[in-house]
Amino acid sequence: MNSDPNVFIFDTPEQVAQAAAERFVDYSAASSADHGSFSVALAGGSTPRRAYELLGSDEFKNRVNWSVVHLFFGDERMVPPDAAESNYRMVNDALLARVPLPPQNVHRINGEIEPEESAALYEAELKSFFATTSWPRFDLILLGMGDDGHTASLFPGGDALNETAKCVVATRHPQSGQARISLTLPVINQSARVVFLVTGKKKAAPLVRVLRGEGANEELPARKVTPVNGILEWLVDRSAASEL
Ligand code: 6PG
Repeated sequence: MNSDPNVFIFDTPEQVAQAAAERFVDYSAASSADHGSFSVALAGGSTPRRAYELLGSDEFKNRVNWSVVHLFFGDERMVPPDAAESNYRMVNDALLARVPLPPQNVHRINGEIEPEESAALYEAELKSFFATTSWPRFDLILLGMGDDGHTASLFPGGDALNETAKCVVATRHPQSGQARISLTLPVINQSARVVFLVTGKKKAAPLVRVLRGEGANEELPARKVTPVNGILEWLVDRSAASEL
């Protein structure tokens, strides 16, 4: 039985997507009321796509003031923006093509250049947008979780997990070897709000490991997401929660 107050269990993936879209609407309103803008880093992979589609739908798109939204990416695959595996492409197809978000408010990770160069460029973009010498503080970061407990493109056992200076790093998928770019843990943990979207039976065992920790599980990247001064929420469906 789940007793974790940060974990919200929904019957279906559709309800998880609805809850994520509602939070995007609420948090964007609260942030723009508080400081005139809403900075959000989106998750990649397949799970969040439905939430993005909902945000671009008639049900939701008029409930967000898109002119104050600044959209970033939590990670990217080092592929061109029109590639099937591109997180940017997924977000563009599901959301950007359907809402009046000013193009200059879309902060894409450049997947078609050298990883190190792309990471440095994105680091500079974050520093200039957040105009801070300290850690950027997003209003919201959406994350997914892999079957191995990875999040963004921070993989178990990867050096990137120990990054303490950079906001953005180049990493590599441990199985496919695919080059990736990822926000680092210090940036993720500086966020005002971090929301995980996790659905499906395959995620049930890793979710227990991440939420319970203990032993080696303490090193799982998703477990290391602990906002220092922000809220953490897990939106999961009943299948993913089936072993809690
Ligand atoms: C990516 C993601 C990654 C993703 C997990 C879960 O670019 O792949 O950012 O961290 O969230 O791999 O992926 P699914 O949602 O497809 O299960």
